[in-house]
Amino acid sequence: MSLLYTGKAKSLYTTENPDELLCVFRNDTSAFDGERIEQLDRKGMVNNYFNAFIMQYLDKEGIPNHFIKQQADDASIVRKLNMIPVECVVRNIAAGSLCRRLGVEAGLELNPPTFEFFLKNDALHDPMVNDSLIIAFKWAKEEQIAQMKQYSFAVNEALKKLFSQAGLLLVDFKLEFGEANGKLYLGDEFSPDGCRIWDAQTKKVLDKDRFRKQMGGVVEAYEEVAYRLGVKIPEVA
Ligand code: ADP
Ligand code: TMP
Ligand code: ASP
Repeated sequence: MSLLYTGKAKSLYTTENPDELLCVFRNDTSAFDGERIEQLDRKGMVNNYFNAFIMQYLDKEGIPNHFIKQQADDASIVRKLNMIPVECVVRNIAAGSLCRRLGVEAGLELNPPTFEFFLKNDALHDPMVNDSLIIAFKWAKEEQIAQMKQYSFAVNEALKKLFSQAGLLLVDFKLEFGEANGKLYLGDEFSPDGCRIWDAQTKKVLDKDRFRKQMGGVVEAYEEVAYRLGVKIPEVA
């Protein structure tokens, strides 16, 4: 097993199977494209259990994804993908960069939900891109663009329902996709690090905005979401 890639929050290792990787969820938590990084106790484990639960749920909902099995408290085996270097963002409620860019009020309901592509490039602060640029620079093919949009909206419908049953609002989220053997898969992770979740009644923030805005109680909020969704996380690592 050797280290293949270290990102801001996860590390990927090769395994004895060339088609599979070990994905280790670290406690590192970053904001503002890696400008601020802190270690939050238990975060790696919580996100690994959270992600495993969501990926297995999405599989049942017919969304092909890279998750194979959980291997340890903080690590899972995933299918090795050739990642498409764009981030797919779906929004149900205006927040974050949408409000900054368009001057709209946070909390505004977006009906129908919106879709945006961003280039995955921290040095350039993940600039927004579109289909035409993605094709011109060969980041993805036309069919892959269509499929990423279709899967992203399907993830939204499935998870909006799941979260709403737990009294939670899925405000927005970011997905990454990759290709293996000519097939497109959802990759990376789905956890409160890459989405916004509010309590439906109180609008309490239960995601990484707590870290970005230095509100405290970050991992406690992630665990509250996990508990409400029925994700089982051990008390002690
Ligand atoms: P970042 O690269 O954004 O700092 P992470 O720390 O989460 O983020 O690193 C995970 C990296 O692994 C990302 O670059 C992501 O695109 C990549 N990745 C996620 N899933 C897979 C996969 N199944 N195969 C190959 N690479 C993956
Ligand atoms: P934004 O409001 O900053 O554009 O983010 C929209 C959603 O996507 C939010 O839930 C955070 C997530 N996101 C990431 O997790 N990583 C990223 O690099 C970006 C641009 C967004
Ligand atoms: N994921 C990016 C970072 O770690 C953006 C963010 O979450 O604020 O810096």
